[in-house]
Amino acid sequence: MKLNFNNTTQFIDSNKYKALLKEADEKNKLLHSGEGEGNDFLGWITLPEDNSELITDIEQHAETLRKSIDTMVVIGIGGSYLGAKAVYEALSDNFAVYNQNSIKIIFAGQNIGEDYLYDLRKFLQNRSYAITVISKSGTTTEPAIAFRFLKKDMEEKYGKAESAKRITVITDKERGALKSLANQENYKSYVIPDNVGGRFSVLTPVGLFPIAVAGFDIKQLMAGALNAAKLTSPDKKSDENIAVQYAAMRNMLYEKSYNIEILVNYEPRMSYFSEWWKQLYGESEGKNGKGIFPASVNFTTDLHSLGQYIQDGERKIFETVVSIQNPKHELVIPTDDANLDNLNYIAGKRIDEVNKKAELGTLMAHVSGGVPNIHIEIPKLDEYNLGELIYFFEKACGISGYLLGVNPFDQPGVEAYKNNMFALLGKPGFELIK
Ligand code: PA5
Repeated sequence: MKLNFNNTTQFIDSNKYKALLKEADEKNKLLHSGEGEGNDFLGWITLPEDNSELITDIEQHAETLRKSIDTMVVIGIGGSYLGAKAVYEALSDNFAVYNQNSIKIIFAGQNIGEDYLYDLRKFLQNRSYAITVISKSGTTTEPAIAFRFLKKDMEEKYGKAESAKRITVITDKERGALKSLANQENYKSYVIPDNVGGRFSVLTPVGLFPIAVAGFDIKQLMAGALNAAKLTSPDKKSDENIAVQYAAMRNMLYEKSYNIEILVNYEPRMSYFSEWWKQLYGESEGKNGKGIFPASVNFTTDLHSLGQYIQDGERKIFETVVSIQNPKHELVIPTDDANLDNLNYIAGKRIDEVNKKAELGTLMAHVSGGVPNIHIEIPKLDEYNLGELIYFFEKACGISGYLLGVNPFDQPGVEAYKNNMFALLGKPGFELIK
């Protein structure tokens, strides 16, 4: 992957940036020393290093299930679903959901929509399905509700013994209601390591198992992550270390009052990758009254909606574009003798050439409109490059949080809504926050 800051220089103070780069380098060393804040949640740093036994087990279990199902329901919320969904969507055919021959991965427990669960239960009646339920705490309300319904439906359809073979639990090694249930029912279980928080857990079984069930190569995903670990190691000089550079640049822009970062893609399959990224940065940095607000757009689609604001609204936005050099397939625009649509001027060009010109034209327009632009390029959308991108963003997030002066590995703010919801539902021991 390549990082390009050519379109940020006019918006920043280069001496200040150099100083921040040095500071970011120190924060990377602090992260690796395990002496910074939140140091009990640094297990994600070494995940790509040695996991061969676990990967083999995940691949074997996924393969066994793949032989007997057409649908996998993945139940989880936040860090317990976004990574799997991001990778699944990025690697799948755009219309995989309508393809009779591919295993469908369907997500539940990420909302409390009554109609969503109703429709899902109806849909599952005619499918041969399995369930993976993921929750580190094992007590989160949204997935617990979905699992209560779907477990009951499954046991009615397949019986208790067969259901036990179709349910996989991914949770803490000993704590939580889900762990007790898994022990009691003898479900196949994977452990979410104690020292890996939800939003940093995509390279644990939380992400790896659903991705393997979908048929993708998790070894390649880990190989890409391992490469990013090397590229961002504290031994790499700061002017060559992409995570240090990205962390320093976004904090530089934040200091210049650019407090909204929009992650931009020009590839529809990257839409959920942006959702994963938003959780990673939003939950890690938005605390103590500080933090860049992470947003996302899908271009060119959103150039016809939010594009107006980005070009012309309040000047506090910067963009980080994730650009994919090569699409999977090739489509050349045909010549049409009648040319009634006046498109012959682009006949003979690939669709991707038009997309890349839209990307360049947008970049030029936004930069001249006062929007700094960070550009990240990956060669193609595959397991290896996604693994690299995931680890890169995680590492930069840890460094960036330390630069900002927050603990990037906790999420105290998430508890406030839960407390009020429990109080309103009459759960014993909870009162509304005044
Ligand atoms: O990043 C996080 O820690 C959160 O988003 C959690 O992943 C989310 O709240 C789900 O928690 P759990 O896995 O305990 O059900």
